[in-house]
Amino acid sequence: MKIAIINGPNLNLLGKRETDIYGNMPFEQFLDQLKKKYAGHEISYFQSNVEGEIVNELQQVGFDHDGIILNAAAYTHTSVAIGDAVAAIKAPVVEVHISNVHAREDFRKFSHLSGKAVGSIFGLGLKGYELAMDYLISK
Ligand code: DQA
Repeated sequence: MKIAIINGPNLNLLGKRETDIYGNMPFEQFLDQLKKKYAGHEISYFQSNVEGEIVNELQQVGFDHDGIILNAAAYTHTSVAIGDAVAAIKAPVVEVHISNVHAREDFRKFSHLSGKAVGSIFGLGLKGYELAMDYLISK
């Protein structure tokens, strides 16, 4: 299956950024492990700090991939455009957050994506991406 992982702003700093919340592992290192574990599947990866680039990528992969794992990071809580893109595309989107957004500041409790995603995973660290993979390849 063809699965796309899309990460939003500041997730390029994983491993360096607020490690008490997000952990010590750079995403590229985790991605290597993920690609090995799911070697029978094609996993593409895109990260951007720019809202419109995330919309462009969702449109790009959203009609020919079998599923999308999306951590839109802070744009989750602010971006009508990314929410609209999730609603517009054909591929099922699983929303992932590394931290438990419901145990943090109030502004992180609202998501423009949750109502349009097939489901959401939060608070389980990078394991959330693996669980999202398991779900999407089981469909
Ligand atoms: C995050 C949670 C967001 O609230 C935050 O802005 C992020 C990362 C997470 O993965 O826990 O940048 O999406």
